[in-house]
Amino acid sequence: MNTPIITRREFTIAAGAVGATAFMPPALAQTPALLTRAIPSTGERLPAVGLGTAQVFDTDDETTRQKAAAVLAALIAGGGRLVDTSSVYGDAEAVLGEVMAQGALREKLFIATKLEAPDAAELRRSQTRLKTEKIDLLQFHNVRDPQASLKQFKDWKAQGVCRYIGITSTRHADFPAIEAVLGREKPDFVQIDYSLDDREAEKRILPLAAEIKAGVLTALPFGRARLFRAVRGKEIPDWARGFADSWGQFFLKYLLADPRVTAVIPGTGDPGHMTDNLGALRGPLPDPDQRKQMVAFADAL
Ligand SMILES: NC(=O)c1ccc[n+]([C@@H]2O[C@H](COP(=O)([O-])OP(=O)(O)OC[C@H]3O[C@@H](n4cnc5c(N)ncnc54)[C@H](OP(=O)(O)O)[C@@H]3O)[C@@H](O)[C@H]2O)c1
Repeated sequence: MNTPIITRREFTIAAGAVGATAFMPPALAQTPALLTRAIPSTGERLPAVGLGTAQVFDTDDETTRQKAAAVLAALIAGGGRLVDTSSVYGDAEAVLGEVMAQGALREKLFIATKLEAPDAAELRRSQTRLKTEKIDLLQFHNVRDPQASLKQFKDWKAQGVCRYIGITSTRHADFPAIEAVLGREKPDFVQIDYSLDDREAEKRILPLAAEIKAGVLTALPFGRARLFRAVRGKEIPDWARGFADSWGQFFLKYLLADPRVTAVIPGTGDPGHMTDNLGALRGPLPDPDQRKQMVAFADAL
């Protein structure tokens, strides 16, 4: 799938789900094509650009809460819904919970969080901090053991604590464990590091995820800003201008052009960057030849 075919009806549904059109600048409100992807296990559609909260929201103070409120407003205004956090991202869950409560935003968002162990007390802590009983996606964070069981996560899903379960890793040394657990336990999602200059996931995780019909969230889509540093002072190549208006969109659209990717979750504490990243939901995606060109470009940096 190169250029997403999004019907007006799909756009209306997605925009309605987040109440987005009411907040959108007129130019965006008139743009019909918003890239959503189906979650393989249910078919529920998710806007394909979300927000990561590691580092950026990890201190629970007024400055951070204001920053988080501005970034979440930009996410919703630009048609986004997915927010990824974790019980171990400092105070990020608490900041998110407070901002969601103050703005009555919970129903407009798809909340993904992570636990490092299937521990009921940890789950309760996340629910309390997020000020929500129901987690959309509950992930087993940093899976390292190939024998790791998702039984407790599945029980929680059956009890209605969460709607989806997933596993995560950003350590290539742990990819064999991720493959083992993914193949055996068949969670709804796998979250993995994947960026234009970190393509290990293409070789092993993405094919398996497609085979077992798991959704894929790409952590570290900018390699913790490594990609921005690599292109500092450079212009976007002319051959990419048809699909990217910024480096952020260039890097994200490389990932989104792979239909196995359900959503990218770039981290940002800057509402302008959030809006920029959401630009990757619109317009054409690079075709396979352009993707090869992007890889060659990145490899030469
Ligand atoms: N599962 C795991 O084990 C795991 C591990 C790590 C991360 N993650 C997930 O992946 C998410 C993303 O990771 P990350 O935030 O560490 O790295 P990242 O998304 O690869 O990069 C974030 C960096 O890019 C900058 N940035 C974002 N948008 C930009 C734009 N449009 N223009 C210029 N700069 C931009 C941000 O700075 P500004 O704040 O200035 O925008 C920040 O410095 C995390 O938040 C987390 O949800 C998961």
